[in-house]
Amino acid sequence: MSDLRHTGNHLVVLVNLQMGGYEIASRDFVAKDLSVNLEGRSFMITGANSGIGKATAMAIAKKGGTVHMVCRNKDKADSAREDIVKESGNTDIHVHILDLSESRKVWEFAEDFKSKHTSLNVLINNAGSMVKKREVNSEGLEKNFAINALGVYILTKSLIPLLEKSKEPRVITVSSGGMLVQKLRIADLQTEKRSFDSTMVYAQNKRQQVVMTEEWARAHPRIHFSAMHPGWADTPAVSMALPQLYETLRSRLRTPEQGADTVIWLAISPAAARTSSGKFFQDRKVVPVHLPLAWTRYSREKSWALVVRMEALVKKLQPSGGRSQLNSPMVELTGSPEDCVKKPL
Ligand SMILES: NC(=O)c1ccc[n+]([C@@H]2O[C@H](COP(=O)([O-])OP(=O)(O)OC[C@H]3O[C@@H](n4cnc5c(N)ncnc54)[C@H](OP(=O)(O)O)[C@@H]3O)[C@@H](O)[C@H]2O)c1
Repeated sequence: MSDLRHTGNHLVVLVNLQMGGYEIASRDFVAKDLSVNLEGRSFMITGANSGIGKATAMAIAKKGGTVHMVCRNKDKADSAREDIVKESGNTDIHVHILDLSESRKVWEFAEDFKSKHTSLNVLINNAGSMVKKREVNSEGLEKNFAINALGVYILTKSLIPLLEKSKEPRVITVSSGGMLVQKLRIADLQTEKRSFDSTMVYAQNKRQQVVMTEEWARAHPRIHFSAMHPGWADTPAVSMALPQLYETLRSRLRTPEQGADTVIWLAISPAAARTSSGKFFQDRKVVPVHLPLAWTRYSREKSWALVVRMEALVKKLQPSGGRSQLNSPMVELTGSPEDCVKKPL
């Protein structure tokens, strides 16, 4: 059996182990954690037109928050906005069109957003994708990596100055329990050397999101960062990317609203803000980022190296004369982790 098939089997076993559990887990939930009036607070949610992102946007809209829906498809985004406005009665819902696979555009979008808004309380990196074959974006970057990892990195880093000047800032990244089968790999971020297995590429990106969350938490103590696993929920992402798994497990999948519960809890509850920054959550609880006895553990140097590589890629994407234009955080590519976060070029 090849390594990849072996890892793929682990993923199926893992998904089975992680199935269900919402009803049991929710018995411990404290209902008043989500009794928060969000008027005057703004939330950016990527992929807010569908599944977990839409359920999150709906819940926040119902509580009076301002919602910035960042979506790639205008028709889908407008139609989701219409649903949200109709059901919540909240008209402070804004659509922004952005394809997260286009890395430079992500950067430009974030810079433009900063120039037009004085506050952003919460960023929810929810959009995610599994592109089945190896494809590259207009900058030559492998698309799964561009959407799930680099796009998340650029959006978050670029918005950090705005988040830092806002009240109780938080960043939530919707990762996946599937990342537990992947060790952080930084040598081949764009799957140029290994054979291409989209499920494993996706799981690797989700591992990278968890590592980035840990690094951001160390670097930016004024912001509360978290990553999370939504449980396995019935959304287009699962039915399209993993059709066999979907058919097998369909009756046991969570609703998108159940999948969104921990995202919402992390985004709005005072209880979540009291947890340590940089952790990985499922069902409103911190859960380990490695399986017991796992081979997936990584050193601080390795997680730091991921940030350095991300920054190297970001630097290449910088339009000419762009630093002042885009005002993006940059780092020295040599030196310690502390140098990276404290010494902008
Ligand atoms: N559902 C689960 O069981 C499960 C489990 C683990 C993790 N997750 C994670 O949960 C998150 C939400 O997924 P979901 O399950 O709610 O699926 P979904 O309903 O398919 O939502 C995915 C969202 O991401 C958007 N998106 C994908 N590629 C994009 C791009 N290049 N630029 C901008 N937006 C893009 C999609 O836009 P379009 O509608 O235009 O395609 C959609 O709005 C994802 O990060 C996923 O990896 C889900």
